[in-house]
Amino acid sequence: MGEQQHDHDARERAIETIVHEHLSLWRVILLLDRLRHDIEQEPHEPDEVLLSAILDYFEHFSERVQSAPDEILLFSCLRQRSPEPFPELDALERDYLSAHETLQQLRRQLHRCVEAWPHEREALSEALRRFSEHLRHHIEQEETLVIPRARQWLEASDWERIVAAKDQYDDPLFGERVREEFRELRQHIIHIAPEHVGGLGIRHETRLDPAEFASVEGGEAHGGQAPGESPIREPLLQAHGVSTSYGRIQALYEVDITINRGEIVSLVGANGAGKSTLLMVLSGLQPLDRGEIHYAGCDITRAPAHARVGQGIVQVPEGRQVFRDMSVHENLLMGAYRRGRDPQVFEDLDRLYARFPILRQKQRQLAGMLSGGQQQMLAIARALMAAPRLLLLDEPSMGLAPLIVEEIFEILSELNREGITLFLVEQNASQALAISDRGYVLEAGRVVLSGSGQALLDDEQVRAAYLGI
Ligand SMILES: Nc1ncnc2c1ncn2[C@@H]1O[C@H](COP(=O)(O)OP(=O)(O)OP(=O)(O)O)[C@@H](O)[C@H]1O
Ligand SMILES: [Mg+2]
Repeated sequence: MGEQQHDHDARERAIETIVHEHLSLWRVILLLDRLRHDIEQEPHEPDEVLLSAILDYFEHFSERVQSAPDEILLFSCLRQRSPEPFPELDALERDYLSAHETLQQLRRQLHRCVEAWPHEREALSEALRRFSEHLRHHIEQEETLVIPRARQWLEASDWERIVAAKDQYDDPLFGERVREEFRELRQHIIHIAPEHVGGLGIRHETRLDPAEFASVEGGEAHGGQAPGESPIREPLLQAHGVSTSYGRIQALYEVDITINRGEIVSLVGANGAGKSTLLMVLSGLQPLDRGEIHYAGCDITRAPAHARVGQGIVQVPEGRQVFRDMSVHENLLMGAYRRGRDPQVFEDLDRLYARFPILRQKQRQLAGMLSGGQQQMLAIARALMAAPRLLLLDEPSMGLAPLIVEEIFEILSELNREGITLFLVEQNASQALAISDRGYVLEAGRVVLSGSGQALLDDEQVRAAYLGI
């Protein structure tokens, strides 16, 4: 392994553990918010045992951070390397130091509230709200300031030391044993959470309202026009002259594509044609050599992947890639991670569960235990949690039984009717083109043909090469 690769690995390992723990924290915050909502809405008193278990979780976390040399090292390296004052760092560190006191206050308030119910109800809900806001802010600061700056400023030797501290320390913050402790704490929370709250804070009653669902996705439903009236197509995403390579292997050559608002656009092509590569270019995971990408009127050629997700470009990855050792429910919450404090998240979850009843039924099962079709549905549902305007799908029907494939295509059409624009990569060209407004054919990294879905279905060349007719 080259030295550079080694440095890179140390850095990525350290960052990955931080991000992982942020996600865990975020999920517990979501549960806390749900319970707070209950306290505000419902006439029964708060569950002191459950809320205390959640506060224990946060307390345990802050204690771990304070006693872990790797975390301390990260902060001290940042201080040392920072070319400019970094006052947020002090505030973040103070959060850890004051966590115990803050949590003690919350515990006292909780207890008072239960004793004096319902007199202290508003005070408790306000205190919980401030607490979760603050914690979210803390995580956001770490994600948006600490990690990017650490990436930029810390040197290879710093990352080595951080990772070494993590490894040497008998009980590192994010080491296996501690992860196990946190897992147990979470299991405990899930175990004692009431049924209506669900494993991580979700109600079950709400039914899907398609109109509402469309608005949640932020898409402009285009199903409303009169029959025969042709919709006005306005570009949502345009790629111009896109070329990219893997090292010396060029994978895409001067690719031009347009995806209009409200369309389903398919991309077909043989193995290795560059279909997945084009999706990765659009979602920001693969850098361009040349070309430009515009989305909703903005040049996003250099926008990082997470910024694109924030703007509504969301990819359902190939091979489903759900988090196999997380529950269905946790997988869905992960999809909403980037939406930050969007209060719509829970409403969206309810709607998703109504849309995919099988996922509701299996919400507490590990995703790895689901069938292939169910995993694919979960992958789509997870992407929907990120509130997409443009959904990029890489072979969603791959490896599935024909009946399930039908179902997946049905779901995709439905999502499109509700306003989500789809860009669909498929080997299953006939079915994909049949539901598509337009399509592109990619061969050896070049667009060789494009047209309406029907025109491509009728095209001799396409029929011979991709439809097996
Ligand atoms: N990480 C990589 N490193 C080097 N070459 C790669 C990498 N990923 C893909 N390629 C090459 O780039 C070309 C395009 O691959 P890509 O995966 O985009 O094709 P595809 O159309 O999605 O194929 P498939 O139908 O098999 O999924 C292929 O020649 C492939 O070998
Ligand atoms: Mg592919």
